[in-house]
Amino acid sequence: MMVEKQGFKHFMLKEIYEQPGVVRDCLEAYFNSDWIANDSNVAPINLGLPPEIYNDVEQIQIVACGTSWHAALIGKYLLEHLAQIPTQVHYASEFRYAPSPLTPNTLIIGVTQSGETADTLAALEMEKERRKEQQPKFQARLLGITNRPESSLGRMLPNIINTLAGIEIGVAATKTFVAQVMAFYALALDLAYLRKTVSSAKLQEIINGLRQIPGEIEGLLETQEKYIEELVHEFNETKDFIFLGRGINFPIALEGALKLKEISYIHAEGYPAGEMKHGPIALLDEKVPVVAIAMPGTVYEKVISNAQEAKARDSRLIGVTPIRDGEAGDIFNDLIPVPAVDELLSPILAVIPLQLLAYHIAARRGLDVDQPRNLAKSVTVE
Ligand code: G6P
Repeated sequence: MMVEKQGFKHFMLKEIYEQPGVVRDCLEAYFNSDWIANDSNVAPINLGLPPEIYNDVEQIQIVACGTSWHAALIGKYLLEHLAQIPTQVHYASEFRYAPSPLTPNTLIIGVTQSGETADTLAALEMEKERRKEQQPKFQARLLGITNRPESSLGRMLPNIINTLAGIEIGVAATKTFVAQVMAFYALALDLAYLRKTVSSAKLQEIINGLRQIPGEIEGLLETQEKYIEELVHEFNETKDFIFLGRGINFPIALEGALKLKEISYIHAEGYPAGEMKHGPIALLDEKVPVVAIAMPGTVYEKVISNAQEAKARDSRLIGVTPIRDGEAGDIFNDLIPVPAVDELLSPILAVIPLQLLAYHIAARRGLDVDQPRNLAKSVTVE
């Protein structure tokens, strides 16, 4: 199928703009619109997975690479927080040579948008083999999350969640990341529903919140793109960036830094904000901007105080936060507002400005946004 840019300068920008539609498609496919809280006849989520996947799961291990690994980190937070299942996330390239010991009732999940990443496939193949030998009864507990169900991953694993993002051309993943995060919301909520670890009312509240996300992303794109395009003029000479986040938004700090590295070739680090004092703070001065993801919730005040520490070292502070004024809002040199939503839903909104920031910095530098040097859309060799 021939994919066109449809008037966008780059595929990456087009794909950023496709995200509201991708979230809508995931909502429609994964969530049952007939579900009413406390009506036990209909399940709220339908991923089409067999019960063996879910029964008595005591642990989850996830393997992935690159941006998919970041989606997996959000998945871990959701699975632990909502379904109360201890979850570990591994780089597939590490896990394949240094796997965790096999434990009973462990579900393993491979996340790969292409379904062709060599390390992820090898890690899962190794897991399949060792289970066959040592734990034949846990063979069924293998799950893939992919945008290409027809891929090698799709053929290898018995169970798949299809992420429904459509073909992504830009090497830097955007819409497939958001779709992977949607798959994790659905999986974590499904497990939470079956294990009764969240109340029906809370489940309803989260699902209602998810249904607002497409409109909120549309609003963000409409109001922020021009602002971010202007803002990047400030970073013509910038060589380093630091991204800070905490809790469920720590992976978004990692993803913001990765997007920038991939397409603009600027050195960038994503850090859990509380760890800044153990190293990165030594890098800070007026030449190193700091992007702080400060979404209301359990760690909001903490992120603000970490951001203040960066400001005290003369860093330019860019806030991704709904708080516009008052003490918190005033500390930022630049403020990219995002809607205030339940903390659990906030990463899917916080990532949008970071995608736009990376895109506009790279586009302004005249770089090949869709085909950055040295990178491939899928890495099919070790
Ligand atoms: C490559 C791409 C990244 C991607 C990673 C994992 O490095 O450039 O954008 O995140 O592979 O790809 P996968 O297809 O396994 O998600």
